[in-house]
Amino acid sequence: MHEINAASECCCGCSGGDEKHEDLLKVINESKDIPGSLIAVLHRAQGMYGYLPKDVLYLISNGLKIPISEVMGIVTFYSFFATEPKGKYEVMVCMGTACYVRGAAAVLNAFKDELGIEVGSTSADGLFSLTASRCIGACGLAPVVSVNGEIHREVADDDVVGIIAEYTEKENQGGNN
Ligand code: FES
Repeated sequence: MHEINAASECCCGCSGGDEKHEDLLKVINESKDIPGSLIAVLHRAQGMYGYLPKDVLYLISNGLKIPISEVMGIVTFYSFFATEPKGKYEVMVCMGTACYVRGAAAVLNAFKDELGIEVGSTSADGLFSLTASRCIGACGLAPVVSVNGEIHREVADDDVVGIIAEYTEKENQGGNN
């Protein structure tokens, strides 16, 4: 079976040769003949890198012989894929039905406004990243916001400034959460 390798065929523009890169090439080579393997490969890559850098997306596109436009379409469709490094505090606003009907959209918009970022992005100081999630199984507490797994219950849009301040203050006091 013809295999890609970093030395001869990596056209992603990355430097190649490091351990993660070699591991990803292995995953791609194992998956390239399996139909529908793109999402699984993207998950593995995000697990290795913590996010999906552009050069990694090109490597996957090339290795699986899937157009980069299709790869980008999948990455942008699913909110659990990130194309930027995550912030120290990962803010997840639940947009499941129970949270949505109780005002989650306004909460999400308040986070966007206060942090100055869009969903899937990270604040300029690297502290906060913002995700819109599916139901996280705490519907009785809706609307729910999770920050690094810490649940904030019955959140209203005017609670958002205080939630951000809580973590910013932790950071100013030494960064322990
Ligand atoms: S819908 Fe938000 S926790 Fe279930």
